[in-house]
Amino acid sequence: MILQNFIVLEGIDGAGTSTQLKKLKEKLGTTRAFYTAEPVETSETGKFLRRILSGEVPVHPGTAAFLFAADRNEHLYGKDGIVQKDSEGILCFSDRYLFSSLAYQAATCGEDLPRLLNSTFPLPRILFFFKITPEVSLARITGRGVTEIYEKVDFLKKTEAEYEKVVASFREKADSGMTVVEIDASKSPDEVFSVIWKTLQETYGL
Ligand code: TYD
Repeated sequence: MILQNFIVLEGIDGAGTSTQLKKLKEKLGTTRAFYTAEPVETSETGKFLRRILSGEVPVHPGTAAFLFAADRNEHLYGKDGIVQKDSEGILCFSDRYLFSSLAYQAATCGEDLPRLLNSTFPLPRILFFFKITPEVSLARITGRGVTEIYEKVDFLKKTEAEYEKVVASFREKADSGMTVVEIDASKSPDEVFSVIWKTLQETYGL
C-alpha cells in the first residue's frame, strides 16, 4: 500500500537528509506539510533508541530491529501519526523510514528479521535516496563532535551496500507505486534541494 502524501528521505549518516528536511520546511511552511524523523523524537521508543544509538544501553542487534519497528508503528498509526495526516491531504516528510531498518539492521542482524518486521508497513509515494561515500559523509559528521554506534567507516560501507540492494529491489518493483529518486548527495545543499523540489513540483503540482 502507498501513502500518497508521504515522502521519505534516506541515506547513510551524514548524507544530508536532515539539512534537506530543514530546507523543505523553510520553503513549504507548516500549513499543508508536516516534517518528522525516525527514531521519533517525541516518542518513548524513540528516546530509548537514542540511548541505544549513543552506546549507553547495549542491546542485541535483533532487539534494536524490533524497537525501530515498534517506533515506526507508533509513528504511522499513533495519535497524530503519518497515516492520519496523509489522509487529511497533508504532505508528510520523514527523515528515515523502513528503508533505514532494511539497510542498517540488515548490516547488524541479517536481512530476514528487518524484512519480516517491516513487511506490513505502507510505502511512501516518493523515496529520495541520498547517495554518498562513507568517507565523505563521515567527514561531515566528525565536524559535529558527537558520534553514535553506527558512525564508523566500515559499518557505513556495509550499510551503504545494503541500501543499494534495498533501493534496487524497490526500483525493480515498478508496480509498487513508489517513485525512487536517487540523488548525488556529495553535491551542495542547494543543488540537492533543486532535484527534490523539481520532483515535488512534478508529483504534486506545487
Ligand atoms: P540520524 O538519522 O543520523 O539522526 P541524528 O542526525 O539526529 O543522529 O540517526 C539515526 C540513527 O539511527 C542512524 O545511525 C541510523 C539509525 N537507524 C537504524 O539503524 N534503523 C532505523 O530503522 C532507523 C530509523 C534509524
